[in-house]
Amino acid sequence: MTRPSSPAPEEPGAPDRGATSEDRRTVTVPRRALLGSALASVGGAAVAGFAGGHLLAGADVAAADPAPAEASDVVSPFGAHQAGIATAQQRYATFVAADVTVTDAAALRRLLVDLSATVALITRGEEPPPSPMFPEGAATPTDFATGLSPARLTITVGVGARVFDLPGLAREVPRRLRPLPAFSRDHLDPRWGGGDLIVQICADDAQVVSAAMRALRARLPGQAVIRWTQSGFLSTPRDGGTPRNMFGQKDGTSNPRPDSGAFADTVWALPDEPAWFAGGTYLVFRKIRMKTANWDLTARDVQDAVIGRRRADGSPLTGEQEHDQPDLEATGADGATVIAPDAHIRRVHGFSMLRRSYSYDYGFLTAMAGGSPDPLEQPEHHVHAPGTEDHHHGGHGKLDVGLLFCAYGNDPDNQFVAAQQRLDEHDALNEFIQHTGSAVVAILPGFGEAGHLGDTLV
Ligand code: HEM
Repeated sequence: MTRPSSPAPEEPGAPDRGATSEDRRTVTVPRRALLGSALASVGGAAVAGFAGGHLLAGADVAAADPAPAEASDVVSPFGAHQAGIATAQQRYATFVAADVTVTDAAALRRLLVDLSATVALITRGEEPPPSPMFPEGAATPTDFATGLSPARLTITVGVGARVFDLPGLAREVPRRLRPLPAFSRDHLDPRWGGGDLIVQICADDAQVVSAAMRALRARLPGQAVIRWTQSGFLSTPRDGGTPRNMFGQKDGTSNPRPDSGAFADTVWALPDEPAWFAGGTYLVFRKIRMKTANWDLTARDVQDAVIGRRRADGSPLTGEQEHDQPDLEATGADGATVIAPDAHIRRVHGFSMLRRSYSYDYGFLTAMAGGSPDPLEQPEHHVHAPGTEDHHHGGHGKLDVGLLFCAYGNDPDNQFVAAQQRLDEHDALNEFIQHTGSAVVAILPGFGEAGHLGDTLV
């Protein structure tokens, strides 16, 4: 893929849908010389009014960074689908939910154009576009990341149902965008749910994620108000295999592979969706606490039975290798199925979705700040092995550690919702987890170098 050579039209044209995931991997990355052309291209409409002193100030600051970004550190944001879904999972992520304060479709478009210009630049390690937010000569919000590689930064944007109520927005709501039903075991904190916009920011460097978050946040004043953020990380096993979650389990084994037909069939918008949504998908986001203290006090064979796979190597209890197919019918000497009726993988077997989740560890901070629901465990009821020193503390559930569970799929009702209803009814894992945050959005289709995020929508 080459850099944009001609300015984009003011109005959204036909986006470049030709780019493939192949293109994303190999982008040549010239540095500062691109600033002007990228601004003229993706964000032309948004930044036209901000040119002049601010543009020069931005260029001056950036000129101090001579290091070119390696092509392998850059994931192109352009293509038929947004980056950050089929992209091999990066090590760190922040999820930002915001409520839009724009009052019509034209203003929404300006916001999306501006975000696109920012995304186009920062994902290749450039300074964000100038903004009237920053006085002339001021540092930019990404200055603290100067000299860092973009570290495969991707930014993925979704919109919630309320956005479609904006006056002037003529496009149909994606057919499957609706609030999730309540689940009986939900323990949702409204401070960690909802949002008109959800932005997933991922990179292999936590500081780059943070810089990107600040750069994007700087575009929001007067357009949108941040509602919540969540930040997570992914383990990197020595063998390069499936990451482990905070229970030490290999998590993601049975995900569809990005290059497979199953992935496309599971993730990308179905043909009966509105035409503008082609190439989009849905994201169901759940903040799930994992009661690590209870888990750590549970015998290994019980842990294995809870999931139906061995924690050590991720193999199903009926097989030997991680990728062996679980045999749900196999019985043991006692006549009972080897994979128990309430084993997690039995309960959700056959529900397709892309789980692109991140672990989180907020320590005791959010619990102590009232940010966690009351712990379910009562200190007087908890059990330790015989011989444990007599002790008391605030309860095992104070530690806020868990999973930022992300399910991408083209049919949330028949994928996430149906699976969660099964889990809600009966799942050995329920004893160890608690859903505390929730959101669902339609992830916008991809966009081309001459277009912008949501250019088929508005
Ligand atoms: C903290 C909460 C959760 C933990 C720790 C967890 C853990 C796991 C583990 C270890 C596996 C087996 C390895 C793999 O295939 O990835 C698995 C599989 C799976 N999980 Fe979860 N999970 C959690 C929540 C959920 C939720 C909320 C859903 C959906 C509603 C879900 C859906 C699935 C599915 C569809 C599979 C694949 C099952 C198969 O066909 O083999 N999980 N999970």
